[in-house]
Amino acid sequence: MSAQLLDGRILSTHIRKQISQQAATLSAQGHQPGLAVILVGENPASQVYVRNKIKACQEHGLYSVYDVYPDNFTQTDLLARITALNADPRIHGILVQLPLPAHIDSHRVLEAIAPHKDVDGFHIANAGALMTGAPLFRPCTPYGCMKMLESIDAPVRGAHAVIVGASNIVGKPMAMLLLQAGATITICNSKTRDLASHTRSADILVVATGRPRMITGDMVKPGAIVIDVGINRITEGENKGKLCGDVDFDSVRNVAGWITPVPGGVGPMTITMLLVNTIEAAQRACTATPQT
Ligand code: GUN
Repeated sequence: MSAQLLDGRILSTHIRKQISQQAATLSAQGHQPGLAVILVGENPASQVYVRNKIKACQEHGLYSVYDVYPDNFTQTDLLARITALNADPRIHGILVQLPLPAHIDSHRVLEAIAPHKDVDGFHIANAGALMTGAPLFRPCTPYGCMKMLESIDAPVRGAHAVIVGASNIVGKPMAMLLLQAGATITICNSKTRDLASHTRSADILVVATGRPRMITGDMVKPGAIVIDVGINRITEGENKGKLCGDVDFDSVRNVAGWITPVPGGVGPMTITMLLVNTIEAAQRACTATPQT
């Protein structure tokens, strides 16, 4: 059996057409949606992600501001910049790329972003609201994974969803979204005993660990939907320099019913949902303060 491909590029293209239209409509009303992206330090992966986010804004008619600060940028200066962006009417969404350098308290920084501009959905007001059911914004990667499941009419209700990885960015919010959709949830972490016994019982398996190809075909239930959130750079062998996921695509594709590729799976959807959240923030701002 060979799994069907759950293609994030195709789905993104479809959603992004609507985004361009919505951005154009808002711009014509004098409310061009605006996103500020802040990068501190020189993490090469973060530099690529952030550049792609800005490029997506430019391609779809959103206004964007891109702040790049050196590794030794102070927390005080970062908080001051966020305060200024909170007050800037051209900016509807603020994203501080994680991870931040060790001397900066990322919790403090995320809590400084106004919840109505928190398009990452990481502020505790939005994370808490996600737990109780109605956040202003859903975190972009899990939100994108849910859209992928929707796109294939996945039977989420009553399914057993296993999430490998318990981060605030992916694992925990993913669990909340799947729970709300009626799945039974297992969250595994790096200390989970006999991981395969959990993953093998998953109808839906979401993997976000940052460990290249750690999920192999023998760890997957036949016919399962496998969503690979990992993006890792291969460091040796004939594929050196190429990207791979946290799932061993070649062995898992022979067992799973559906599988997301890397690249071209979850990655494009994360950026797409960031644009969706920014449009939503602009629409709310536009309704809250009609221009006379
Ligand atoms: N680092 C890795 N993923 C993300 C994300 O979705 N948002 C932010 N702000 N940082 C990240």
